[in-house]
Amino acid sequence: MSEHSSHDSIYRDPRSQVDAFVFDQSVANVFDDMIRRSVPGYATVINMVGVLAGQYVKPGSVCYDLGCSLGAGTLAMRQFIAADGVRIVAVDNSPAMVEKCRGLVAQQNQAVPVDVLQDDINSVPIENASMVVVNFTLQFIEPDQRQRVLQRIYDGLLDGGVLIISEKIAFDSAAEQQMQTELHHSFKRLNGYSDLEIAQKRTALENVLIPDTLETHRQRLSNCGFAHQHVWFQCFNFASMIAFK
Ligand SMILES: C[S@@+](CC[C@H](N)C(=O)[O-])C[C@H]1O[C@@H](n2cnc3c(N)ncnc32)[C@H](O)[C@@H]1O
Repeated sequence: MSEHSSHDSIYRDPRSQVDAFVFDQSVANVFDDMIRRSVPGYATVINMVGVLAGQYVKPGSVCYDLGCSLGAGTLAMRQFIAADGVRIVAVDNSPAMVEKCRGLVAQQNQAVPVDVLQDDINSVPIENASMVVVNFTLQFIEPDQRQRVLQRIYDGLLDGGVLIISEKIAFDSAAEQQMQTELHHSFKRLNGYSDLEIAQKRTALENVLIPDTLETHRQRLSNCGFAHQHVWFQCFNFASMIAFK
């Protein structure tokens, strides 16, 4: 998908005031470049979502990609789903993301049907699901709504169904928090972001992207009733978990 995305220079120039981050048209236009240069391990997570879909998606079921943005998770699942009679529902509440996602889905030559919905993951119906992907999106949901969102996903999953949840994570240890943050910023610098871009984006995301610790994620997933859950990927302060109903 990278060749369809423009270079992200949104925070390149100094701003007198940095507004709260929103997923608007300007972000949608550069999003693929932005997320690949900002999230360590992003390409691996997306590719492995395909592997996980090949492994766990059940015939006649529905796969969900909640907070789909440009549909990277959807396109990966769609490529590797081996089961018959499956459809994918991709959901995002940003009109700009949904429009671009629909275009990218239409370009991909794969048989599995995809519905791209402009909807809120707090309320979109979830049913008959064998796999639900929530990649780097729960962190943007109000913290006091997160348990409810996960419970709705759990309730919509079939027995044996899986939830993949990828997030920026926080750490209880101040030393680890500092180390992982520094490594994340080094990663961004190596990918061409200046210190000013890193600082302005960080300000924009403050109070918008609120990360939880892995322990908080584990507790929420077990509160929902998931039978078992595992961290299957971590790079610096980004991790992906899998939970089985
Ligand atoms: C960091 S992006 C997700 C990236 C995407 N899953 C991927 O792997 O490329 C977060 C997305 O969640 C969407 N989003 C945030 N809150 C939402 C909500 N309440 N309902 C639906 N989408 C939401 C945003 O519009 C944005 O596109």
